[in-house]
Amino acid sequence: FSVALRCHGKRCRPFPYSTLSKAISRPTLIATSPSAKIQKRYAAQAGASNGTWRPVSVLDEWVAKEARPISLRQLMVFGRSLTESRLISSANYVRTELPVRIAHRIRDMQQLPYVVVTNPHIEEVYQLYYKAFDTFRKFKEIKTLEDNEKFCEVISQNLKGHLTVIPKLAMGILECGRLMDPKELDHFMNVILRSRISRRVIAEQHLSLTETFNSPYFSPGATLSESDFIGEVFIKCFAKDVISRCAKAVTQLARSTNGPQVQVPEVKIDGHLNASFPYILSHLEYIVGELLRNSVQAVIDRHQQQPDHASSPPPPIEVTICEAQEHVIIRISDRGGGIPRDELPYLWSFSKGPQSQKRLENLGQVPRMAATMQELHVTDELGRADLKAPTYLGSLSTLTSRPPNLRLGMGLPLSRVYAEYWAGSLNLHSLEGYGVDAFLQISRLGNKNEQLTTRASMDA
Ligand code: COI
Repeated sequence: FSVALRCHGKRCRPFPYSTLSKAISRPTLIATSPSAKIQKRYAAQAGASNGTWRPVSVLDEWVAKEARPISLRQLMVFGRSLTESRLISSANYVRTELPVRIAHRIRDMQQLPYVVVTNPHIEEVYQLYYKAFDTFRKFKEIKTLEDNEKFCEVISQNLKGHLTVIPKLAMGILECGRLMDPKELDHFMNVILRSRISRRVIAEQHLSLTETFNSPYFSPGATLSESDFIGEVFIKCFAKDVISRCAKAVTQLARSTNGPQVQVPEVKIDGHLNASFPYILSHLEYIVGELLRNSVQAVIDRHQQQPDHASSPPPPIEVTICEAQEHVIIRISDRGGGIPRDELPYLWSFSKGPQSQKRLENLGQVPRMAATMQELHVTDELGRADLKAPTYLGSLSTLTSRPPNLRLGMGLPLSRVYAEYWAGSLNLHSLEGYGVDAFLQISRLGNKNEQLTTRASMDA
């Protein structure tokens, strides 16, 4: 019955009870992307004479379409010479691309075991996604600037409405940790989060281009300087500047959470201090901010345990920037004692770990959460972002209603989702009893497509 309800398509087909009961008792996957055998049976029921599968619901039609990935370079080239017709084609790209990307994730959710997909938090996300899918797929072709204005309002409302998705998914996944293979749950979470970032990137990029186009200072074809943004893309993102800004914000945060009497470690930056690359600033701020936050807290905690802590400063955190031909690597080294042995296997896990229960309790205190820093920009009542407002930790607690010291256990896995999204990587080496080295690799040419599927390394 529930499965039938989930088939929101017009020509909804009820799920055969025998398959459903098997799904509940084993539990096994609910095969809404049917196996060859089931496809054949449905095809026969649907009257396909040659016995081949054909879509029987609206969702099937959209799932059959492939996402069209973009690169940072494409975003820059497209937005560099903005004209009315380019803005309209950007709107139509977003209008047709969002429902494709959402449809794939709805299908993923349908394929979760019954006990997982009926978890109340996951169910809520499912409903949100189905509503958004329906809204975007039904939106008529955008032909004029007025159509675009209406479309931008719909995007803004959805961006705002989906701020609850991350805590809900995280709670659902933690609650289901024992009902499904944690590896599969983590894989599901990685894919759904990466896809969410991708949708927010294309949606926000379009809002941002529209804002630029509507600005009284905008003149079509004007040459941009390197310090400019094209939409959301920062053309020349200097690693050193981002690290310094994040270090400042993290230091302030550490002072306010640990008290003024506690000594906060210095963050030293060396290496290729002029390294720059095109990037979405908010993504980099998120990753660097989370890594520094972990390092700073670990060093403070360890330093507090030293008998002479009051008379000697804590060891600094050393950040090295290394610029190679195709990559920029940022290494963050701390002497915070390393990662406890029992936490190591779950470092990248959304679904399992020794602190699962605590994480669940903490997440319960977070009704909305900006997991992308784009979401942290100040928004107006329509949810439209004030894109150039100062970001990161300064606004973290106000906009997300997340107390800054509340540990959700998502910072590391989510940072890796961000890093890999633009074809980079994030790895950690823990030296037991000494400290941690984190390696963030960024693809510096901006020519790599967004990575919508997960890597073999992550799935292993
Ligand atoms: C999300 O934030 O989960 C989205 O899918 C946003 C999109 C509907 C604009």
